[in-house]
Amino acid sequence: MKLNIALLPGDGIGPEVTAESVKALKAIATEFEHTFIFESAPVGAVAIDETGSPLPEKTLELCKNTDAVLFGAIGDPKYDNDPEAPVRPEQGLLKLRKSLGLFANIRPVKAYDSLLDASPLKEEKIAGTDISIYRELTGGIYFGEKQLSEDGNYASDLCAYSREEIERIAHLAFKAARQRDNKLTLVDKANVLESSRLWRKVVTEMGSQYPDVELDFLFVDNAAMQLILNPGQFDVILTENMFGDIISDEASVIGGSIGLLASASVGEQFALFEPIHGSFPQGKGKGIANPIASILSAAMMLDHFNLTEEAQRIRDAVDKSLELDITTPDLNKNGNRISTRQVGDFIEDFITNPDETNLN
Ligand code: IPM
Ligand code: MN
Repeated sequence: MKLNIALLPGDGIGPEVTAESVKALKAIATEFEHTFIFESAPVGAVAIDETGSPLPEKTLELCKNTDAVLFGAIGDPKYDNDPEAPVRPEQGLLKLRKSLGLFANIRPVKAYDSLLDASPLKEEKIAGTDISIYRELTGGIYFGEKQLSEDGNYASDLCAYSREEIERIAHLAFKAARQRDNKLTLVDKANVLESSRLWRKVVTEMGSQYPDVELDFLFVDNAAMQLILNPGQFDVILTENMFGDIISDEASVIGGSIGLLASASVGEQFALFEPIHGSFPQGKGKGIANPIASILSAAMMLDHFNLTEEAQRIRDAVDKSLELDITTPDLNKNGNRISTRQVGDFIEDFITNPDETNLN
């Protein structure tokens, strides 16, 4: 298969972790005789520095003309404490999601057996956890009308959803549940928010089209607690944009590190794959960033193109690296200093030689 892949490494540790995914993808291309062609473009703070815009027109054009986008990370502390910054790196990612119509963000959360002791949560509570979060990505409060009064003393962000926006992601979530354990939980705040009541109504109605899927509902505050108390109760979680952002970072604690959480953002036409972590500016250039979230995002990309065996090879490589504790400091147990690049090297070797790769 021939795939054109746009690389948007972005800010902070983004370039370092993306480089390791590219290595894994190149090894897959060689082993399975595919042609993957990579082209890079700037996004985020680096793009602001270069062009003044967090999403230059050329970058967007490249994304629209490729088969898939591999995204690194976005954000730079110099903007975080400047509420008056005229442009912000994050706008680049939000505009990209909107322009490509990436309405569904899929975030798998899993407790690896070899990492049960890496989580601050009790092992017996998290063992076996396997959740797929479906986060709506192009609506809600992120994209609603924003206001700031002239005197700067009043601000608002509107949370709005239409039936269509809810239905299109809910269909994906119901179908995903069918491929898994047939359970779908809608997370909302329907006791308070009108927009949440619409989610509940629409999803309840759709339930009759999926009678084999067990549907239940949780308020987001309770869901935040349940995720920590008893994550094993969840299969597929469906939720709106901001709730999904928050509970997925929370859920990463189950796996032991946010450096493991990958995601796929899909729409009618385009697809983008990105780790859920941020740009971790303190870690930039130190070789301590965990590349697994990016590498597993690349695996999700392969799945998206039905390259299941190839995706599985990457996942097997990741499992093996975790079993052997070939991990960056966020997870490392034996105190070995293993760098971002060394984790990537191991995964590359395993892809090429799954039966022989061991700690070397
Ligand atoms: C994420 C990030 C983004 C979001 C930021 C960088 C805009 O936190 O992908 O989860 O809030 O969606
Ligand atoms: Mn987030």
